[in-house]
Amino acid sequence: MITILLGAPGVGKGTQAALAAESHGYTHMSTGELLRQEVAESTELGKSADTYMSRGDLVPDDIMVKMVAGRISSFPNEKVLLLDGFPRTIAQAAALEEACTSGAIGLSLYFTAPEAVLTDRLLSRGRQDDTLEVITHRLGVYAKTTEPLVKYYSDQGLLREINSDRAVDDIQADVLATVSGALNQSNIA
Ligand code: AP5
Repeated sequence: MITILLGAPGVGKGTQAALAAESHGYTHMSTGELLRQEVAESTELGKSADTYMSRGDLVPDDIMVKMVAGRISSFPNEKVLLLDGFPRTIAQAAALEEACTSGAIGLSLYFTAPEAVLTDRLLSRGRQDDTLEVITHRLGVYAKTTEPLVKYYSDQGLLREINSDRAVDDIQADVLATVSGALNQSNIA
């Protein structure tokens, strides 16, 4: 079952996915992490992605779809894949549906927290793309380009909202309960 982690930069998608992966053996795929690896290894893809990432812009859809499609197409449906940071555009969402088997997307967790909380979290983390200028740009790109996916998955009955302005453990309890509920519904627990 593919579970899409949706939400603004800094909302805690990576934190929550890593915890659930560790405690429950779920697979965590972070497109941000995959891209940062490519950048660290100075691959052609990494060099091209770095220009976009350091500005806080999205890497073009064709690059992202190529990177993700092969990895998810053979993922076994009885296992849980936490997809963190993909899709981020309607075009990526359509490509994801084409790449996976019908019904494989079982859930979209939509993490929410006030913008001031997100900015504070990112500034204290201090990743290369966590300067105030780039954070502000990333939040704008998110609102314009990625937020439409909230309605997209809500219309499909897949969206579950999680208040992420709380302690990490409280959020994690909701994440695990929601994933487990979706697994039960799909009868593949
Ligand atoms: P990506 O790495 O995905 O960055 P992001 O979406 O901006 O997400 P973050 O990693 O910043 O935040 P998060 O929600 O995972 O929060 P985290 O758990 O880290 O992408 C980076 C770039 O790659 C993009 O800008 C783009 O250029 C490119 N890219 C990636 N995917 C792409 C795609 N599909 N298409 C095109 N381009 C793509 O938490 C943040 C901080 O808060 C941490 O320090 C954490 O410890 C802390 N924290 C977490 N939860 C809590 C809590 N409950 N209370 C207090 N602190 C908390």
